Amino acid sequence: MQCITVGLDERSYPIYIGRDLFAQLSRLLPQLPNQILIVTNQIVAPLYLEQVQQALGDGQLVTHIIGDGEGEKSLHNYQHIMDTLIAHSFNRDCAVIALGGGVVGDLAGFVAATYQRGVDFYQIPTTLLAQVDSSVGGKTAVNHPGGKNLIGAFYQPRAVIIDTDCLATLTDRDYACGLAEVIKYGIIHDAQFFEWLEAHSQDLIQREPQAVAYAVRRSCEIKAEIVAADEREQNQRALLNLGHTFGHAIEASHYDSWHHGEAVAAGTAIAAEFMRQQDELSDQDAERIRRLLQACNLPVVAPSMPLSQWQDYMQRDKKVKAGQLRLVLPTAIGAACLRTVTDWDRVASAISACNSACNEHD
Ligand SMILES: NC(=O)c1ccc[n+]([C@@H]2O[C@H](COP(=O)([O-])OP(=O)(O)OC[C@H]3O[C@@H](n4cnc5c(N)ncnc54)[C@H](O)[C@@H]3O)[C@@H](O)[C@H]2O)c1
Ligand SMILES: [Zn+2]
Repeated sequence: MQCITVGLDERSYPIYIGRDLFAQLSRLLPQLPNQILIVTNQIVAPLYLEQVQQALGDGQLVTHIIGDGEGEKSLHNYQHIMDTLIAHSFNRDCAVIALGGGVVGDLAGFVAATYQRGVDFYQIPTTLLAQVDSSVGGKTAVNHPGGKNLIGAFYQPRAVIIDTDCLATLTDRDYACGLAEVIKYGIIHDAQFFEWLEAHSQDLIQREPQAVAYAVRRSCEIKAEIVAADEREQNQRALLNLGHTFGHAIEASHYDSWHHGEAVAAGTAIAAEFMRQQDELSDQDAERIRRLLQACNLPVVAPSMPLSQWQDYMQRDKKVKAGQLRLVLPTAIGAACLRTVTDWDRVASAISACNSACNEHD
């Protein structure tokens, strides 16, 4: 088992990464209180809930199971979980455990952040995306019909327990979505890790345990380092949004057909093409980014939509400041910047050039 610390002074916490960790939960989390609420969903519950319940022993253990999908990250479910906590007379010393992907984690985290002004929160992420990204760093939220993650809080967990064995039951599609975030870390922060990913993309696709363990560990180390340096996203943490502004436009306009990681992958390819066109990213690096995404079975061609639609969705991004669009853009493999972009023609040119370049190759 590996242990990484997210260093945030008195709110520092461990990320445990390993195999068969569910069985060791009570040893890993000796400080758990008597009253525990597990939030999970209808897909994860039949697979892993019993194991987790057994490992937690015999306190007052209550489970709240939500449905599957992004639509469940709602104020409606938030209210229902609050109802459960209140109906069982949970007090301020209780703990909330999220057992699931990013949807469960974001929702349960927001519940924990606000129930009685905040109770202990633990993350047991079960998707690759949640293990390498959403369970670490303390962003919690629910969606509003007006936009994703509009209601939420920064609220750090007490610990994150990553059991990589549970990735075995993920669909290929959900697994690949997690790889998009893994590749992101290589592009923005760590050229050596990017090279390692290039060399091991086939092992990763085949979910070879050692390769998966390393990719999860290195991703968590990078996220932990960035969060410790900039918890509230004043500067460096914004780089974690590489590909996400383009990605959100794709997700928002095609929410039923594109998953988050797929939209981020296509968005990353566009961001690389944007910089290549300005001669700020070499042809070779742009090509390497595109090839690695493709090797991991991720899309690098965005769905076609009019520029006005891209513009409309991208302007709603949280990084827009004083009406100006700010994009995370790669400057090399291993480095990225956050830049205000005013010239929409250049954005349009990157989107269309990337798509036609990609189509030529396909
Ligand atoms: N808080 C953050 O910092 C942060 C960062 C990135 C993404 N997010 C959020 O995360 C969400 C996406 O997360 P996600 O990709 O994990 O989506 P998800 O939670 O919907 O999980 C994807 C699918 O996998 C299923 N699943 C989960 N674990 C499984 C397992 N072990 N075996 C089989 N199936 C399993 C789920 O039921 C779901 O169908 C979005 O809401 C996004 O906004 C948050
Ligand atoms: Zn993401």
